[in-house]
Amino acid sequence: MAVYESALDLIGNTPIVDVSALSPNPRVRILAKLEGQNPGGSVKDRAAKYMIEEAEKDGRLRPGSVLIESSSGNTGIALAMICKVRGYHLKVVLPENVSIERRQLLEVWGAEIIPSPGGEGSNGAMRRAIELAGEHPEWVFLHQYSNQANAKAHYEGTGPEIWRDCPELTHFIAGLGTSGTLMGAGRFLKEQNAAVQVWAVEPPVGEMVDGLKNLDEGYVPELFTANDGFDLLDRKMIVRPRESIEWTRRLTEVGVFSGISSGAIMAAAVKAAKLLDEGTLVTIVCDGGWKYLSTGAWTDGLDEVEARAKGIIYF
Ligand SMILES: Cc1ncc(COP(=O)(O)O)c(C=O)c1O
Repeated sequence: MAVYESALDLIGNTPIVDVSALSPNPRVRILAKLEGQNPGGSVKDRAAKYMIEEAEKDGRLRPGSVLIESSSGNTGIALAMICKVRGYHLKVVLPENVSIERRQLLEVWGAEIIPSPGGEGSNGAMRRAIELAGEHPEWVFLHQYSNQANAKAHYEGTGPEIWRDCPELTHFIAGLGTSGTLMGAGRFLKEQNAAVQVWAVEPPVGEMVDGLKNLDEGYVPELFTANDGFDLLDRKMIVRPRESIEWTRRLTEVGVFSGISSGAIMAAAVKAAKLLDEGTLVTIVCDGGWKYLSTGAWTDGLDEVEARAKGIIYF
């Protein structure tokens, strides 16, 4: 086992585990890439590191720089961790109703929190961050929804790791938020084998699942269009919040303690396994379950968890 110079060098190279015990079809294997093993706890460590390193290379980020971000989720946490280690000051616009764990983690990594109205949700926080970035051109706004370094992190990291560890894959199934994971890893995998199917997991219009977006909601990330997302994706799978919670629970049967979007992806993989004759599906477990403990997702009734999730931004 090597000794690493920095915790940031531990980003990437995550393990893949066989979770086929949850597959309803004995001829379809389901494999899960455990992104919660990254030091900041999620797949977003990859994009955050690439976006920061790119901004350092092109001179936008210099020692002592200030960054502004609007994520209440994994990107904010990942950026906060890297900023703390690299000595940058991060301001995060955060809706007042985010779950306690998210606020605490941003505080752990020393980010400055700028509250935004809870009723306006994460889109309101993003609008406020764009306004503030406009008023303060000296602040660096990495804007993960349009930053090509986000997809590049997956084109150079996640995709090659999957190809190295599992060249027999037939399907790559991941959630769609900024689309960085799907655009980057999906493109890399199709370039290696054009027969690999790339499937996106989305919640239905008007419903929320942790970090995931429905493209029909009206906001298509620039990253998605810039990477010809509509051509790249072979299929979209719609998964509801309740199924996501159910499959987040089921994942514990195979020793995987995950966040809720990973439950959504697993629900989609299980549906895919029913549709297909045979295959090897590689899925992404975006993060661990720690940040979601206060949802009661593993312990409380499904109705109760669903109702609770409507008032608080957990996901
Ligand atoms: C928990 C979680 N799941 C899924 C995603 C979606 O990944 P991407 O933004 O690469 O599309 C994100 C990121 O927004 C996330 O934080």
